[in-house]
Amino acid sequence: MNRRQQSTRQPPRSPHYPTDTPAHDSFGRRIDYLRVSLTDRCNMRCVYCMPEQGAQFMPRPELLTSAELITVMRAAAAAGFRKIRMTGGEPMLRRDIVELIRAIKAIPGIDHIAMTTNGLRLHKQAPILKAAGLDRVNISIDSLNPDKFRQMTRGARLEEVWAGIEAAHDAGLVPLKLNAVIVRGLNDDEVLDLAALTLDNAWEFRFIEVMPLTGVAGVAQDGVVSTAELIDRLEAVYGPLEALDQPGSDPARPYRIRGAAGTIGFISSVTDPFCSTCNRMRLTADGRLHLCLLRDNEIDLRTALRHGATQEELEQIIRHAVHVKPWGHGLPEGVLPTLRGMSALGG
Ligand code: 5AD
Ligand code: SF4
Repeated sequence: MNRRQQSTRQPPRSPHYPTDTPAHDSFGRRIDYLRVSLTDRCNMRCVYCMPEQGAQFMPRPELLTSAELITVMRAAAAAGFRKIRMTGGEPMLRRDIVELIRAIKAIPGIDHIAMTTNGLRLHKQAPILKAAGLDRVNISIDSLNPDKFRQMTRGARLEEVWAGIEAAHDAGLVPLKLNAVIVRGLNDDEVLDLAALTLDNAWEFRFIEVMPLTGVAGVAQDGVVSTAELIDRLEAVYGPLEALDQPGSDPARPYRIRGAAGTIGFISSVTDPFCSTCNRMRLTADGRLHLCLLRDNEIDLRTALRHGATQEELEQIIRHAVHVKPWGHGLPEGVLPTLRGMSALGG
C-alpha cells in the first residue's frame, strides 16, 4: 500500500503540537489540572445542582471504563498535566474508585490526586482511599441544621456527612476542604456558623457563589449572595478578616478569622471571575474534554479512544483542546451553558 492510500484511511489529524513543553493555551495560561467526572449519577439531589425531578443520567456504556480513564490521564500527564481531581456527580458511586486511585498514583508526572465528594460514603472508605494514594478531599456541607441539610440535598442526612468529614480528617486527607454553596433564603442565615467551624479546626472552608447552570438557573437567579456581602457579614461579628496570600491558580480568595485554626475562602465565580488564572480543564464521564465550566465548548476524546488511538494521538487531542480553550465565561453578557448541568460537570 502506498503512503497516500494509507493516509486516506487515517482519521483527520489535528495540527501537530510540540510535545517537549507542558501544554499552554493560546492566552499563555499553563493548563495542568484535570478535573475528571467519573459519573453523572449522584446519591443526593442538591437544589443548586440538580433539577427537582432529577437529571437524565447517561447510559452506562457511554461512561469511560477505568482502563479508558487511565489511558486518558496518562496522555494528559504526557501533555503536562500534574493534578487530577475526581468529581461526579458523586465519584464514590464508582465501584472501581479505589483501584482507580491506585492506578492514577502510578502515572508518572501526576503529583496530586484529590476528590470532590458529598461525603455520604466517606465514613467507611476514607482510610482505604488514603492508603490507595488519595491526597485530599473537598466535602460539600451547606448547612449545620439537619432539617435544612435534608431540604438542600433533597433527602440526605447531615449526620452521615459529618461522620464522613471526621473520618476524612482522621484518615489524614488534610488539610480538609469544606465547600458551601450559599443560596439566599435557604442557607444564608448560616454563614456565621459555617465560618465558625474554622475557629477550632485547621480546615479550609470555602463559600461558593451559586452559578446558573442548566436545570438550576432559577435558584441561581435570585439566590446569589456576593462575596462582598459575605465578608461584610462575617466582619461585623468576627472583626476584620486577615487576608492571606493566594496560591497562583486557586480560585478561592483566602482569609482567616483572627486567631482561627483554619481559613475561609471565597469563590466568586459570578461577581469576580478568576478566569485569568485558570489552570484547569474537565473530562466528562462520557469522554469529552469540557474546556470551560461555564461554556458548552467540548472536544471529543472518546471516539478516538475507542478507535484505538495511540497515547501520542490522544496527547495531541488534549494539547489541541488546551490550545482552543476559551478565555473565560460569558455570564456578564448573559451567555449561559446549556449542554450539561453541574451534576455532569463536577464543579
Ligand atoms: N453553583 C456553584 N457550585 C455548585 N456546585 C454544584 N452546583 C453548583 C452551582 N450551581 C458545587 C458543589 C460541589 C461541587 C461539585 O460543585 O457544592 O462543591
Ligand atoms: Fe450530588 Fe454534589 Fe450535585 Fe449535590 S452538588 S447533587 S452532592 S453532585
